[in-house]
Formats: sequence, structure tokens, C-alpha cells
Amino acid sequence: MAAPQVRRADFLMALAYATDLATGHSRDFALRSCVLGMRFADVAGFDQDTARRIYHQALLRYIGCNADTHLLAAHWGDEITLRRELHDIDMGNRAEFVELMVRALKRRFAGMPPEELEEAVKRGLAEGPQVNIPILSGHCEVAQRIAERIGLPEDIRESLGQIYERWDGKGMPRGLSGNAVKFPVRVVTMAQDAIALNDHHGFATMKAMIAKRAGGGYEAELVDIFLAHAEKLLTGLDGPVDRETILALEPEPHSMFDEDACDEAFLAIADMIDMRMPFTFGHSRAVASLAAAAAKQMGLPASDIRDVRRAAYTHDIGELTVPVSIWMRGGPLTERETDEAHLHPYHGERALTSLGAGGKAVASLVQRHHERLDGSGYYRNAKGPDLSPAARILAAAEAFQTAREARPYRPAMSDSAAAAKLRAAVREGELCPDAVEAVLTAAGQTSRRPSSARLAGLTPREIEVLRLIAGGDTAKEAARKLDIAPKTADNHIQSLYSKIGVATRAGAALFALEQGLVAA
Ligand SMILES: [Fe+2]
Ligand SMILES: [Fe+2]
Repeated sequence: MAAPQVRRADFLMALAYATDLATGHSRDFALRSCVLGMRFADVAGFDQDTARRIYHQALLRYIGCNADTHLLAAHWGDEITLRRELHDIDMGNRAEFVELMVRALKRRFAGMPPEELEEAVKRGLAEGPQVNIPILSGHCEVAQRIAERIGLPEDIRESLGQIYERWDGKGMPRGLSGNAVKFPVRVVTMAQDAIALNDHHGFATMKAMIAKRAGGGYEAELVDIFLAHAEKLLTGLDGPVDRETILALEPEPHSMFDEDACDEAFLAIADMIDMRMPFTFGHSRAVASLAAAAAKQMGLPASDIRDVRRAAYTHDIGELTVPVSIWMRGGPLTERETDEAHLHPYHGERALTSLGAGGKAVASLVQRHHERLDGSGYYRNAKGPDLSPAARILAAAEAFQTAREARPYRPAMSDSAAAAKLRAAVREGELCPDAVEAVLTAAGQTSRRPSSARLAGLTPREIEVLRLIAGGDTAKEAARKLDIAPKTADNHIQSLYSKIGVATRAGAALFALEQGLVAA
């Protein structure tokens, strides 16, 4: 079956959702700033081309900010809290900036005796610029590279290379000023600050703070336009923004992704996710290659193989909500941190809902990637029938790959130790034996169940037919959807009935449900 089409703007929203969380922003922050930026372009009478660049700058400003998070966390401690606090201050105001950095360092070194603490804070402050500047330069470069991989043109990428620059030259890392700062950068920086300040301090204080920064962080002329229309510009922007609003605002031309472009976009997201710390470099790619090979070996239809690969690329997108500092600490997590970490599949699914119908199957797999057959997984404690073969494969591939990677709190396991761990989980009833053996075979381990692969010996086409008739389609309807002759569909039905040992559509539907082949 052909994959539903995905619009590039849908991917931008998925990225925006994840980066909002990673940078400590409030819900739909980037989306709201996009609406504000587009309204601003409208009242200011900017041309379509300028509006297009503002649209993308607002949605994508922080897509590079996941790079080198471990370095930021190692120096400043909890990086998400630090980023949240940064949204409030005028970065060009040295006193405000230093005060915030001191607070971050005191948080990081909490529990130290007073004299040592004072010394550690002093040292941390002195070393701050040499830590920050390369990281911020890296964010700009990574943002540009990701934008290129999702096919965005050079003018948009150029603006993403200046995300921390300011009108008055007090920005980082290059200290550009005035017209050297790209126009969309100037507009979006002010628009995003307005959203954050409005969230934190209310409308009147926000306006006063924006006015105070005219000629400093923001170009005075832009501030004048903003203040003249502030009420209209901010109307309704204190609540969530829906997908349709963002799609409707996108200036022409609207790019649609074909299959290859879609794969590349998923892969770009995978790399972005994995860049948060060295321990996870390449994690999502590795899970994807194991999961896709296992799904192929188990005889799943091509659409399932594609979905499981894309889900593997993005399975940890929700992990961007969890401060890297808690992993780098190396010790046990507090209860609250564990709860937060266990919610990452929820945030992952939520991030991917912006992909609409085209991303539904992927989002559903991402949501289940830590679930276990016996209900001992997280975050929904889903059980067997709710876990499709693709979901079981993804869970097994993820568990295997994670076991053989090092983490700050444990060394990497050898392949054979990781295989033994997975087989133990099978014995405990947590992981699916077929999925585990398929993953281990894909990883080059000798399988103990050489003939276990296929679901009741069904072919990929028979699985597709089974799904459709279990969902209520007649043989004729299934034939039309799969673009095959009705007679061929009939033959598939007879063959699959005999393989799974049923004689009726209802019996087949129950089998499909039990095997997790249809959504419950
Ligand atoms: Fe993972
Ligand atoms: Fe995960």
C-alpha cells in the first residue's frame, strides 16, 4: 500500500515540539512564535519571501540545540532549567547574565561547603565563555545541516546560522550587529522573547520589557511596529496552537515529501536526537537497522518494515525532555526523575502526531517502544495483544542495542551478554521470543529458533489481506485497496485461513487481534 503523503511543514512541527521541550520552553512555544511572526509580517507589510523565512526561523530556531548537550550539562548542571531561565533575561545585560550563571553553578554544586562552593562558582564563571562559545557555534552549524537534510534552501539555512546574534552586537558566537544580523533572525528573536515574557510576566510587563530592549537586543523600528499592534499580534497566543493553523500559515510553495525524502527527514531527526550525548551517538540508526532487518526476516509487509524503521529513527525523540545532566551524573535517578524519564515514549508519540495520517503508525510504535508483553514496561503498561509484531521487534531491537552501548552508569555489554539478557527477558515473559530471535539473527547471533520467523507461516501479502478483512473489509474491498484481482484476494484468504487454522472471518479477526496485527 502506498504511504500517505507527508508535508514538510508536518516535520517542522515535530521538530518544533521536541526542541521546545529540550530547551525548557512552554507548550507550542515555537508554533505560537510562528503565528506571531506571520501576523507581524502581515501588519508590517513584509513580502511573501520574507514571511517564508520568518515562518521557518520561528519553527526551527532551536533544532541544533541538542548538539553537545553533555558539555553544557557537565559545566552548568541541569541544562533544561538553565535554558528556561535564559528565556527571561536580556542576554546583553551582563549583570543579569552573570547572576543567572551564578545561580546555575550554585545549583550544580549544591551541597558543597561554602568556601569550596565559592571557589567552584568563581572557576565556573571564568571558564564559562570558553565552554559556551564553541557549543553555541555548534548549535548553529547543526541547525543548518539538519535544515539542509530536510531540503530547506540556503536563505533559511543562513538565518539558522545566526540564532543567538543580536541587533546591538552583544550576541553570540560572532557578535554580529545591525543589518549583518539576518532580518528573519531579528524578527523571530523579538517574537519569541515576546511569547516567553508574556507567558511568564503577563501582557503589560512583556510590553514594557520589549520596549526597554529597543535598540539593544532588538531593532528599534521593529519594536515600534510590534508595540503599535501588540494586542492584536498576541491575541489567543496564550494557549495551544493546532496543526491546521500552522499548515494554513505556510507560505507557498508547500513541499511534500516523497518516500525517500521522508526517510531522510526521519534519519535527520534520528541524528539530532542521538547528538545529545556521546553515549547515544548512532543509537537510533543502529536500532533501525536491527529492527528493519528483523521485520523483514519475520516476513512482515513492506509498509510495516518502513514504519518500524522510521519509528526506530525517532523512538527517543521524547527523551529530549529529560535533562542530560541526570544521565551524566551517573548515580541512581530520583523517583521524580524516573517518572520524567518514563514519560519519554508519551512525548515521542505526541511529537509525531503532527505528521498526521502519514505518521500515525510510526507514532503508535514510538509510544510502545518500552512496553513489555507482561505489562511490566512503560509508560502505559500495555500488554501482549496491544503490541503488534512490529512493536515487539522495536522493543527487542531497542533493548539489545541499548544493552550493548555504554551508559554513564554502566559499561557496554558484549553482544553475547546482551543476547543472554534478552533471552532471559523472553523467559520472564517480557519480550516476544520470535522478535528477539529475529533481532539476534539480524545482529549476527546464532538463532535458537531458526524456523520461528514468520507469523504462522503467513506471507507479507497474506498479513496485509488479514488486516483488512479483520478490519471489516470484504474480499472485494481488500482487493481494491491492495490493487489486486478479487480472485487473488480470495486465494490469499483461503490460504491464510488454513495456515492459522480458522474457517471464518471472525476467527481470522480474533487471530489478528491476538497477534497485535490490528489496533485494538
Ligand atoms: Fe532508545
Ligand atoms: Fe526510549
